[in-house]
Amino acid sequence: MNQSTISIRLMTVDDFDAVVAIDAKVLQAPRPRYYEMKFEKLFNSNDYLPTSLVAEDDAKTVVGFVMGELYMGEYGIFQEEARLDTIGVDPQYRHQGLGERLINEFMDHLRQIGVKKVNTLVDWNDSKLIHFFSANRFRPSTTINLERSLDTG
Ligand SMILES: CC(C)(COP(=O)(O)OP(=O)(O)OC[C@H]1O[C@@H](n2cnc3c(N)ncnc32)[C@H](O)[C@@H]1OP(=O)(O)O)[C@@H](O)C(=O)NCCC(=O)NCCS
Repeated sequence: MNQSTISIRLMTVDDFDAVVAIDAKVLQAPRPRYYEMKFEKLFNSNDYLPTSLVAEDDAKTVVGFVMGELYMGEYGIFQEEARLDTIGVDPQYRHQGLGERLINEFMDHLRQIGVKKVNTLVDWNDSKLIHFFSANRFRPSTTINLERSLDTG
């Protein structure tokens, strides 16, 4: 697939099924409930600015997406840090630079509206995804995620 035939646009509520379908291919299990909650939060509330994007081919089939979260804050106070929540590219369209394009357009869009930093959480054991984010200029944060297991009391 020629990259020039893929266009990127803001995600809308109507992209729900396509996003769930790509995510199901990524994780090999559908999780519509998770996305119902996400779409509800991002599209039916005034607390979040639109940041999520989809990539579609010339037949308007969605082949990739990136979901972001940018909380407006109390009284509409704008936050300078946004989150890249999930990224997914249909396996048939991978390794053509689409993931990079999605990240770059996501960053450009956020930069234009005044965001200064984007964070994301990646599983330490998912070396491929860490490599992808590293290649796209994400670096480990100085904030670390602490946890305590409830198993041992
Ligand atoms: C990570 C992911 C988004 C990358 O998508 P992608 O479209 O393949 O990304 P890119 O094409 O930009 O880059 C992937 C690789 O293809 C290579 N590539 C890019 N364009 C290329 C081209 N024209 N020819 C050959 N290779 C190319 C890149 O160099 C990169 O190589 P690397 O793996 O050595 O870094 C995709 O693999 C995915 O959806 N993975 C699952 C993500 C996931 O788990 N999401 C849930 C939690 S966030």
